[in-house]
Amino acid sequence: MNLLTFDTHAKLHESGAGIITGLVQTNPRAVLGLATGGTPIGIYEEIVKSYQRGVVRFRDTTTFNLDEYVGLPEDHAESYRNYMNMHLFNHVDLPRAQAHIPDGNAADAQAECAHYDKLLEQAGQIDLQLLGLGHNGHIGFNEPDHALISGTHIVELREETRKANARFFDSMEQVPSHALTMGVGTILKAKMILLVVKGEDKAEIVHRALTGPITTDCPASLLQTHPHLVVLMDSEAGRLFQ
Ligand code: PGA
Repeated sequence: MNLLTFDTHAKLHESGAGIITGLVQTNPRAVLGLATGGTPIGIYEEIVKSYQRGVVRFRDTTTFNLDEYVGLPEDHAESYRNYMNMHLFNHVDLPRAQAHIPDGNAADAQAECAHYDKLLEQAGQIDLQLLGLGHNGHIGFNEPDHALISGTHIVELREETRKANARFFDSMEQVPSHALTMGVGTILKAKMILLVVKGEDKAEIVHRALTGPITTDCPASLLQTHPHLVVLMDSEAGRLFQ
């Protein structure tokens, strides 16, 4: 595991973007696993700047997002499809047909999960999986539980996750109760994992996830088993490692 701590967000975002664009420069056909949430926004901004400078192209790249809310219209401001359009897809030349996100409005959610796993299988291994970290140790929307699921599945969001995400909605009632998420098996199969963690409020959970026992009570603790894990933290999140 390679832990990197940054004293400014600008440096963290540049480093994260540099790792992703560097991979696409050397392997334009890379398969990227992408994340949403507050954490990666600055990284996407830096990737867009690199694209605008003409130093990276995404024409041959394929992406798979980790998750999507169930029941939000695609064009809803807080759907993850809309988030990705706003922060990345509208600004780069990645063909939309190569930008995959689970369909949270599919009539048959189970069939949609199976379809997503089929697409992942056809794409081969994810080269780099970008991840944020939930306050309860979730990755994607794989919430702490007595058992975790390997493939894409429907999940009921925990109360603490809905509360954490309520900041993006007008009220708690509007936060969806369910989501579709890639499973931990798929996440751990990625060749490289780039975990990004920011803020004092994540200091304890990132320390527990990376140094504590490996347990399904903290899904991110499974990342300790990954042979190529890179962790980017700001100094607040990384406080307990110093
Ligand atoms: P955040 O979410 O980046 O908005 O803090 C991270 C997560 O829940 O995975």
